[in-house]
This record gives sequence, structure tokens and C-alpha cells, in this order.
Amino acid sequence: MTWSHADKAWPTRGLSYGADYNPEQWDKDVWREDVRLMSQAGVNLVSLGIFSWGLVEVADGEFHWDWLDEIVDLLGEAGIAIDLATPTAAPPGWLLAAHPGIRPLDHDMQPHWPGARLGWCPSSPVFRTYALRIVRALADRYGHRDHVVMWHVSNELGGGNGRCHCDTSAAAFRDWLRRKYGTLDALNKAWGTAFWGHTYRDFAHIIPPRGNDMKNPSLVLDFDRFSSDELLAHYLAERDVLKSVTPELPVTTNFMVGAEPDVVDYPRWAPHMDIVANDHYTRSSDPVPEQDVAFSGDRMRAMTTQRRPWLLMEHSTSAVSWQPRNRAKTPGELIRNSLSHVGHGADGVLFFQWRASRAGAEQFHSAMVPHAGEDSELYRDVCTLGRYLRRLAPVMGSRAPRARIGIVFDDEAGWAMSKGVKPNNHLAYGRIVRDWHHAFWRLNQSIEVLPPWSDYTGYEVLVVPALFLTDDDTAARVSAFAEAGGTVAVGFLSGVVDEHDQVRLGGYPGAFRELLGASCEEFRPLQEGETFTLDNGWSGTEWTELVRVHDAEVIARYAGGHLGGRPAITSRSLGAGGRAVYVSAGLDSDALLALARSLVDPAGVADVPRGVEVLVRRNEEETFTFFINHADDTAVVAALGREMLTDEAVGGELRVPAGEVRVVRSGTAG
Ligand code: GLA
Repeated sequence: MTWSHADKAWPTRGLSYGADYNPEQWDKDVWREDVRLMSQAGVNLVSLGIFSWGLVEVADGEFHWDWLDEIVDLLGEAGIAIDLATPTAAPPGWLLAAHPGIRPLDHDMQPHWPGARLGWCPSSPVFRTYALRIVRALADRYGHRDHVVMWHVSNELGGGNGRCHCDTSAAAFRDWLRRKYGTLDALNKAWGTAFWGHTYRDFAHIIPPRGNDMKNPSLVLDFDRFSSDELLAHYLAERDVLKSVTPELPVTTNFMVGAEPDVVDYPRWAPHMDIVANDHYTRSSDPVPEQDVAFSGDRMRAMTTQRRPWLLMEHSTSAVSWQPRNRAKTPGELIRNSLSHVGHGADGVLFFQWRASRAGAEQFHSAMVPHAGEDSELYRDVCTLGRYLRRLAPVMGSRAPRARIGIVFDDEAGWAMSKGVKPNNHLAYGRIVRDWHHAFWRLNQSIEVLPPWSDYTGYEVLVVPALFLTDDDTAARVSAFAEAGGTVAVGFLSGVVDEHDQVRLGGYPGAFRELLGASCEEFRPLQEGETFTLDNGWSGTEWTELVRVHDAEVIARYAGGHLGGRPAITSRSLGAGGRAVYVSAGLDSDALLALARSLVDPAGVADVPRGVEVLVRRNEEETFTFFINHADDTAVVAALGREMLTDEAVGGELRVPAGEVRVVRSGTAG
């Protein structure tokens, strides 16, 4: 096998296929079997060494490379490329014993005990020194091996050490605040510290949000921002060492992008990645897991420059092992999930992990090779997927066209909304955004879930759901979008506070009041089980408001109760055909679907059978249309071109069997 450095912008020549590979858990005879099965399944990339620090550096400065040398050679001989991980997610026991001060402390100042992973404080200079030494040693030893094609920095940074409250972190937080505010006066003003007489007279008096009592939300928000920046600084420090040895190799780390506010601010991290990579796991309790797959893909695409391909670094072949009841995937779900990620812009599909572990905390997590072994439906599906990905190689590098729907999602807004006392403490930011996404997803609309600072030009509809924290710039650009002829839908609890988490006065949603021509005098959150009905028949739960209209048309009013006759949904027309709709109530999913339908141009609602998801990627010459049939019946869709998985000509109609995927390749018109 020859390897070409010229190909290293993307780690593999075809779509990447593989997994986290943890050979250290197995005897060497299993390694040879692994490599045989990997080749049989079409695996071309594995993430190696993720948790291997304690096995390589067995004591302070004492390195044992033999086993890693051997497996690196074995993979190279088999033509399998390596995404080599820096092992810093798993500090060795000797390091934790010698320097217990590197452990992160939670808000009750309880340490993260050894036995799990990511047990280190991101601000610890001691940890940083040891971490960069092993990173350097690894890069020197393997960075110039031809089949080491990418660096995988640590693992899911922040998962375990996302917020550290120790004294080292406190000092770093104060430095961060000094840089941000310059003076204590500016900080006191931004945080509104006169409340409860908390005005700071000295930076040294500021401590992270320790304990459980009610904190100043502005302090908590800045601590969240600081924590994200500290972990990013760690990533950058590792990256710089790697780049100093192998400037040509892509460096990444695996994000955990889903529908919850992230532990760190990934959209702000993404520009620092050579390849943006994600880990995605569905929830057993989720009634529509395929929409969660779509949601994460729609976020990932908006994080890359101009919707460039991204890499699915981890997902599961079947059940995970960290949920209360771990659902096995249904027949076809593994392939549907994987190809849905590809349809959403991934140029590679990797799993956690290659071979299911016998021992350890994740011994019942699914893998590409299950405990049952090679003779299993799961492994046969893994081989089928490998074949499919080889047939889909021409898709590589193609991009989704600009989506029709933009949905604004912001970690800072999510953090601000979900921490501290709120009018309804049971509302979840991610759930609200996902409900909006669900409505447009059911209409088969192309969607991007984008950070607020994105360029909004080109979308047909811009949705701003629960953007609790909105800065002036975002508010101005949302208004400009509507003024230029776009449709904006602002959901309740948007634009309530400014970037310092201070309420915008004069009626909610302060940042969008003028644009909407309507405002809210008082929130009227509902109690559990309480519902409302509108005069157009729509209903909902959880949230209502006392809304006053200044310059807008009322689309729907409350049909009864103490808000009877009052506006719930309003719309203001702007020049150039734009409009700004305010959805001040917590609509249920059917009502949101009906509302979404009223917002999009009917000509753009594809006529496909229910349950079929349609995704498009294209390059200059070709268009690739993915049809994913989530339903229980065969679907017939309109298509023209060549089907890539079955290699059949498609002359106008295509049958997509229940639970299966078809991808049609055709010329890109114009
Ligand atoms: C994460 C981690 C993996 C593994 C999986 C299990 O994604 O990165 O090491 O723990 O979860 O689902």
C-alpha cells in the first residue's frame, strides 16, 4: 500500500469508514483477527490510542511504545489509515497520585475521583505540562508514518471537566475577567452587582459559582464562557505541538453536537478545527430519533465554512450503555442513521467502537464487532454499510445547497436560559429549538441550525426560537433580514436579555419588539398539565404571554381563559414582502407544523410520501439525492438518474423499500 501526503486534506481517499479502535483491551491474536475483519468490512480509518496514556507512559517519563508500534505497523500493512489520538482524556494513575491538585472540582468543590476520564482541570499548568510532553512524544514517534493521516486531540473535551471550580480555575477566571472588562467598575455594571449589595471592590473577591444557592446569572454566564475558552486553549496548545511536528496533517477533536446547549461553545471552536468532527448518539426515549440525527447534521453543516463536509467521528451501531434502558437499533436503523449523516454533509462514518469490550465501564455498548462475533446480523449490516459507502465515493466533497430554513441556535442563549431562576424552570432550550426544527423537517425542508452571528442572506425563513440572550448586532441583522424581504418567526422567550444577561426594558422581547410591532407585558407560564386553545383551533402547553399589538396583524387569539380574546400569534408586514411573526405561546407539534406550513412557499414543499426524508448534496457536475424511508411501507418517489446503492437506472419513479435508503445520482442542471 502506498500513501500519498497530497491526499491528506481529507484523511481517506474515499468516504471514511471505521471506528475508535482500542486494541489495548485485547490479546495480540485478536489484533490480527481485527485487521482481517476490518478489511472485510471496508474499514479504512480508525481512531487509535484515545485512552492509552497510562499504557504508553507507564511511569513519569518512562515510555513503553512496543505494543503501539506493533499495532501501527499492522494497520499500515493492511492499508488502514490512522486517526491518531493524543491520550490526554485519560490521565494515568501515577500522574493523579503525584499531583492530585490537577483534578477538577465541581460546584460543591468535590473532586473528580480517578476511575473515569477527563479528570483534569483545564487551567492547571501542571497538567498542561505533562499533557504536552506526551503529545510531543507521540507526534515525534508516529507523526511521519505515512498512514497516520490525522490527529484526534484528546476526547470529547469538556465531558467531565467542562466546569472546574478549583482555586487555579478561580485565578484564571479573574484574569479572563480582567481582560474582558478592564476595570471593576465595568464588571460591576455589566453584572448588576448592586443587587444584594454584591458590588466587588477587588478582583480577588470574585469566585466561580460554587455551591447551590441562587447566583448572579451574569456571573454564571461569564463563567460558562470562560470555561469554554479554557478548554479551547487546551485544545490549541495540543494542536500547536502537533502542528510544529506535522504541519501538513489535519487536527481535530470530537464535538458532541446535538439538540442540547453544548458543554462548550462549539460554533466558536469550529474555526480552529481543520476538519469539524462530531459524536452523535440517539436517545432510547426519543420518539423520533431520526430527527435528532437530522438536527445534529443541520447544526454541523452550519459550523463548517460554506457547508464543507464534516466527519462523523462516533455514533453507535446499536445500543449504547449509558442510558437507563439502552434500546437496540431496529432493522435498517444503523444504515439509515449512517447514510442520513452522509446526506447531511458527513464525508465519513465512524463508530464507537470497533470491537465490543469484554470488561470495563462500557462492556455492554454496541460496536462494529459485537460480543456475538462475526456471524451476526449486526456485523453483516456493518459490511453492507461498508459496501454502500464505497459505492457512494463520488459524493465526497459535494455540499448541500444553501438551505431554505435557517434556525438560530446559540449556546450562550441556552446557558443563559437554562441557569438561574426563570419564570418556567421546566422549559428546555434545546427541546424548544428542536420542536421548531421538527415542524420544518416534517415538511422535508432543507434546514441549517446556525449560530446567531451567521450570514442570514439566502434563507427563505429565519426562525429565532427562545433566543433568550440576544445582542444588539444579532437583533439588527434579524430585522435587516425581514426588511430585505425575508420571513422571520420569533419564538417566545427570545430577545429578553442582552449579552450581559440583563433584562431589556420596555416590554419583552426587547430586542425584537420594534421589528414585531408587538410586545409582551407579562409572562404567563402555565402549570403542568394546563393547556390553551386558540381561535383557529391550535393548542399548546407550558407558555403564554399577555401580548399587546402596536403595529401588526393578529393571526390567532386565545379562545378562552383569562387571556381569552388576547393575541397569541401576530404578524407584521415589512417592505419588499418581508414579514415578522411573533409566536408568543408554546404551540404543540401539530400547531407548529401548521404554522411552519404557512411560513414556507408552498412551491418548495416537496411532494414525497410521509416518512421519507429527502436530502441533497451536489457538486458542479452532479446532484446526489438521498431518499431515506423511515416508514413501514415501500415508498414511491419521483427521481431520474442512476441509483448508487443498487446501480439501477431510474427513469422517473423510484421504489424505496420500507426502512431502506436510496441515493440517486444525476447531472447538476445549469
Ligand atoms: C462517547 C465517548 C466514547 C464512548 C461513547 C459511548 O462518545 O467519546 O469514548 O464512551 O461515548 O457512547
